[in-house]
Amino acid sequence: MAKGELPEFISAERIAERVRDLGRAVSDDHADAAELTVVCVLNGAFIFTADLVRQISVPCRLEFIRASSYGALRSSSGTVSLAHDFDFDLEGRSVLLVEDIIDTGLTLSSIVDELLRQKPASLKICTLLDKSSVRKIPVLANYTGFTIPDFFVAGYGLDVAGLYRDIPFITVPES
Ligand code: PRP
Repeated sequence: MAKGELPEFISAERIAERVRDLGRAVSDDHADAAELTVVCVLNGAFIFTADLVRQISVPCRLEFIRASSYGALRSSSGTVSLAHDFDFDLEGRSVLLVEDIIDTGLTLSSIVDELLRQKPASLKICTLLDKSSVRKIPVLANYTGFTIPDFFVAGYGLDVAGLYRDIPFITVPES
C-alpha cells in the first residue's frame, strides 16, 4: 500500500506532543544527574529515541543494543535474540532504556536482566507504545507514550517484515 493511503492510528502530531511530555518527565526525574545514558533498542526504537533525546535537557550519552524476537512474524516467536557483545559499561550510571513497544515483555525482561548485571546507579524504562493486555512477563515501563489495544501496529520505527519503519505516524496495516 502507498504511504499516503495508510490509515493513521496515532498521528505524527500526537506522537510529537507525547514525546515532548516524556522528554520533560525524564528531564525532571534526572535533573540532578550529570548525564544520562540512553540505551536504544534497535531496530524499532531508532526514530523514537532520536526524537526523545532531543527533548531531554540532561546531557545524553547514546548507546545501542540489538534485539529481535519477531523477525518477519506478526507475533513474538518467544525467543529473543540479543546481541551480547555490549561494548559499553553502565556501572554507576543513570540509565534510560528506550523501546518502541512492549508486547509480551520477553524482549524487555531479557535486556533488563543483561543491563542490571552491569550495576547501573539507576535503570528506568521508556516505551512509546505498551500493549499491556498481551503481557507474558510482568515488566512495567516508568514512562509510556501510549497504551494501545492488541492491534498489530507499524510506522515510526516499527516494521512489517522490514517495511513501514519510515512512516511518520503509527498505522494499523491491513492483515
Ligand atoms: C519488537 C519491538 C520490541 C519487541 C517487543 O522488536 O521493537 O523490542 O518486539 O515485543 P515483546 O514485548 O513481545 O518482546 P522486533 O523483534 O520486532 O525487532 P525490531 O525492533 O528490529 O523490529
